[in-house]
Amino acid sequence: MKAIDIRNKYLAFFKNHGHVVIPSAPVIPENDPSVLFTTAGMHPLVPYLLGEKHPAGTRLTDYQKCIRTVDIDEVGDNRHLTYFEMLGNWSLGDYFKEESIAMSYEFLTKELGIQAEKLSVTCFAGDEDAPRDTLSYECWKKVGIPEEHIYFFGKNDNWWIAGEEGPCGPDTEMFYDTGKPKCSETCNPACDCGKYVEIWNNVFMEYCKRKDGTYTKLQQKNVDTGLGLERMAMLLQSVQTPFETELFAPVMKKLEELQKQDFIQSRRIVAEHLRSSMMIINDGGRPSNVDRGYVLRRLLRRMTRHLNKLEIDLNNLPTLIDTSIHSLKEMYPELVTNQAMMQSVIIEEKDKFMKTLAKGEKEFAKVVTKLKNENKTKIDAQTVFNLYETYGFPSEMTLELAKENGMEVEMEKFDQLFKAHQEKSRMGSEAKFKGGLASTGEIETQYHTATHLLNAALKVVLGEHVHQKGSNITAERMRFDFSHPAKMTPEEKQKVEELVNEWIQNGWEVTSEEMSKEEAIQSGAECMFIEKYPDIVSVYSIGEVSKELCGGPHVKNTKELGHFKIKKEEASSSGVRRIKAILE
Ligand code: SER
Repeated sequence: MKAIDIRNKYLAFFKNHGHVVIPSAPVIPENDPSVLFTTAGMHPLVPYLLGEKHPAGTRLTDYQKCIRTVDIDEVGDNRHLTYFEMLGNWSLGDYFKEESIAMSYEFLTKELGIQAEKLSVTCFAGDEDAPRDTLSYECWKKVGIPEEHIYFFGKNDNWWIAGEEGPCGPDTEMFYDTGKPKCSETCNPACDCGKYVEIWNNVFMEYCKRKDGTYTKLQQKNVDTGLGLERMAMLLQSVQTPFETELFAPVMKKLEELQKQDFIQSRRIVAEHLRSSMMIINDGGRPSNVDRGYVLRRLLRRMTRHLNKLEIDLNNLPTLIDTSIHSLKEMYPELVTNQAMMQSVIIEEKDKFMKTLAKGEKEFAKVVTKLKNENKTKIDAQTVFNLYETYGFPSEMTLELAKENGMEVEMEKFDQLFKAHQEKSRMGSEAKFKGGLASTGEIETQYHTATHLLNAALKVVLGEHVHQKGSNITAERMRFDFSHPAKMTPEEKQKVEELVNEWIQNGWEVTSEEMSKEEAIQSGAECMFIEKYPDIVSVYSIGEVSKELCGGPHVKNTKELGHFKIKKEEASSSGVRRIKAILE
């Protein structure tokens, strides 16, 4: 069965079971600076898992485009992918374990035709935070899974949470037995020898983990499930890797035709990174040296390096892009629309990288000559870092070249230097994100102050739950994203507008103070994204109406702002509204 058919069957099945099909969110979360990419189907739905009403109801299903790059260095083996599609169905305080398990079993056995005896499942064993999940066990037995195929594990295997805090709960996972012999007496679904392949995860989200590590009950019991599409396609097509499915096979074949050197891992890396990069670019990502942009840059550079390793002429990139899109267009028709744009981003980045490589290699040769003259065989971390920072020369490349020259590299220390550097640039970019300022002319500065007034006015009119989720300022307008579950009424918009204008006319002074983060929080200032700021922060106050942690700049007096007008109020993403406004 092709991936698209699995997706269609899935959505149709859950639609038949009363679910509303909702669209995939972009891989780049629109207003959530706390994560770089959408990593799971539940991610855009967090506000609804926490209790907000979803406009489409309490039973939802979708496919979600996901990027997970923690395993980027593993790509090239037979299973890791940085982009994948997750099929999901949700109960937002609707059905719970029994119905969820019954539907999963029916879908796997009846719709996909998987033999029941191929399935094993795992349930949560229980601990001091939550009891043993005997109900799931009973439900699995009831639908027909034999006892000896049901396992219990602890939090490490059967508890799901995105990150450190937030909605979470015990999960039950479904595994497909590939028929390989057990690797040992104790081999079970938790073992990653490859006998058991995880295919679906149903999370029973009834808890919320707080910052202090304690758990509370959510106001509703939810179900969040995730089924990895590529993996399912691979199993149903009886192939060993996702690269043999129709999603990758054509591009893999093309690479084989073009290559002068034969490296299967490199072909997989190229095929995989090309697809991921296209999905990121298609959703608005561009290569840069920080955050998302850096991940994209890394993917594209790694792809280019492996094309070089295969000795494939880089002028073939448009052909490879074309082949890849051809295999994906049924699933993501938007790739066809954006083909030319994606191609130019990829080629531009490739050109930059090739220049970097040439310069870096020259510099590297100088380093080696110097060390050899000094009879040294180890390249110190600072040199590796300089090669990276000054010439953009990737450390993997230094490592590879060092090996070829019989040299060692102080890699651990480099990793530390690199982490510190990344932390610094991340902080910088988050601070920029917070202000949303691309440049800071006089008009942009006025808009920036207006953003603080708007934030404060929204809190007065709509409530204290309003927090900034994002902002973007140009000389023509301001855009402000904030948490709020519903569309604003015309009266609310009018009130907000009036309040902001009243404050502008009051002629409030804008003042700033430096203080520690602790003091900032205690002062009652609005402290969004505080963890991204340095220890000493600036807090900007606007008269008595607003107090916010911020990097500035701002006007001196609100009188400078003129007249504030809301042009548009619209949905931005789940639970987030967007206002576009101007100063006249
Ligand atoms: N959130 C769970 C996961 O990502 C189920 O969707 O596996």
